[in-house]
Formats: sequence, structure tokens, C-alpha cells
Amino acid sequence: MSDILVHTEAGVTTLTFNRPDKKNSITAAMYASLADALDAAAADDGVRCVVFQGNETTFSAGNDIADFLNNPPATTDSPVFRFLRGIAQFPKPLLAAVCGPAVGVGTTLLFHCDLVYAGDNAAFSMPFVNLGLCPEAASSLLVPQMFGYHRAAEALLLGEPFMAEAALEVGLVNRVVPPSEAAALAQQVARKLAAKPLSSLVATKRLMKQGQMKQVMTVMAEEGEQFGRMLREPAAREAFGAFMERRKPDFSKV
Ligand code: COA
Repeated sequence: MSDILVHTEAGVTTLTFNRPDKKNSITAAMYASLADALDAAAADDGVRCVVFQGNETTFSAGNDIADFLNNPPATTDSPVFRFLRGIAQFPKPLLAAVCGPAVGVGTTLLFHCDLVYAGDNAAFSMPFVNLGLCPEAASSLLVPQMFGYHRAAEALLLGEPFMAEAALEVGLVNRVVPPSEAAALAQQVARKLAAKPLSSLVATKRLMKQGQMKQVMTVMAEEGEQFGRMLREPAAREAFGAFMERRKPDFSKV
């Protein structure tokens, strides 16, 4: 069974993180599958929107730490960067159903979704600093914009997790429901979108996003350059090693 399931029905493509034994953490191969699926969904007039989902207990633990350690993205064409550009520039509505942990890119991808439905067990976090890294996916721009600067600093500098109700309050999610209902709700809304004229959906999303698209892409590229460099530096290697060895990282010497 593939780690990313792609299913298209009634004008809706659903992309499911399907690696439950590793908490749906995302490898380079999975990023490549996601980027390819987004390209295909964008090009297919029969597809009107895309839904991201995990399962009722886990959305995604973010980047696969072992994969990043052994195989850090080398160029801007690396699958992770293709995927990030793909979500930022996706022309049709993107939805997400989020239950359980949504770590790192599991949270930052949501800033590029148009509608987000969360189970009441959803736990969001962007612990880049705790991993010796910096924000990605234009989150250094989009999180302060949505949360206000000081709440963004809690999320990005302290790397503090926040739960579904807090995400609802700051506007990151549209509705919080029991975990067993999140995926069905996202599908129900996706079907509603799929019944609308594609040209109007695309034009409306473009008009809402175009004001800062250039800035989003510039920030994303800058973050990517810095993130790629930091992955190879001592702080990240200590943090990743500590995660693999199930110990606390020691940043006193980095
Ligand atoms: N990369 C690689 N493997 C991961 C992973 C990740 N991001 N997140 C979880 N896993 C693996 C664990 O190593 C473990 O594997 P094992 O069973 O072979 O030992 C398995 O998934 C289960 O993880 P575990 O930590 O035991 O589950 P949990 O329910 O106690 O905690 C999380 C879930 C998501 C809170 C926790 O796994 C976590 O914090 N993961 C790291 C998140 C992270 O820092 N992501 C990077 C962001 S850039």
C-alpha cells in the first residue's frame, strides 16, 4: 500500500497520508507523489478541489527526520520544495481534515489551504527552532499575518503546540468537530465546491491570493535556502540525532 493515497471521485481529489507506523511523517518520495498528484489535479478540468487528510489520530508528524538526516534536499527542485511551491500556487481550492498531531509542514501546509476542518484532538506545532531549523512554506510571513506577531512568536520561536480550539480562534481552522466527523465534513464541503463553476472558483481564489503571491514565493525561496543550509549544521544534527536516540537535545555547544 502506498504511503500517499490518491483518490479522485466526483470532482474531488483526496490525498491521504498513509504511513501510520511513522505517524504519517513525510519522506522525499512522499513529497514527490504529493507534488505529482497536485500537478495532475491542477491540469485535470474534471477535478475542482483537493482534500488533504491523515487518519482520525494523526494528520502528519512533518518531515521524516531520518530521511532528512540521511538525504537532505539538495536543490530547489527537490521534492519537498516542489511540493511547497505546488500548494502555494495551486489554482483550485485546497481543503484539509486534520486530526491528532500536525507537526512542522503538517501545520504549515494548512496556511495554503482554503478551508480547514479539525478534529477536537488536533494538535498543531511548528517546532523548527527546537530542531535547529527555521520556518518553511512561507510560514515566517503567514503565521504572524494570521496570528498577530506575539502569538506567532509563541508558535515559531518557542515552538509551542496549540490545540484545535486555539487554531479556531486565530482563524487557522474553519470548524472543530469530533475526530470521527472531520474527514466526512471536509468531503461534504469539497462536494459542495465541486458543484460550482470551476472558472469562478479559480478566478476567485486567484483574486484573493494574487495580492501577496509574489511575496509568498520570495519568502518561501529565502526560507528554503536557509532551511537547506541549517539542515546540515550542528544544531539540526544534534536535534535529529536526539530524536532518533529518544533523548533530549543538548544545544549548549552549538
Ligand atoms: N520522522 C521520522 N520518524 C518519525 C517522525 C518523524 N517526523 N515522527 C514520528 N516518527 C516515528 C517514531 O520514530 C516512531 O518510530 P518507531 O516506532 O520505529 O520507533 C513512530 O513514528 C511513532 O512515533 P512516537 O514518537 O513513538 O509516537 P507518539 O504518538 O509518542 O508521538 C509525535 C507522536 C508526532 C508527537 C512524535 O512522534 C513527534 O514529535 N515526532 C517528531 C515531529 C517532528 O519533530 N517533526 C519534524 C518537523 S520539521
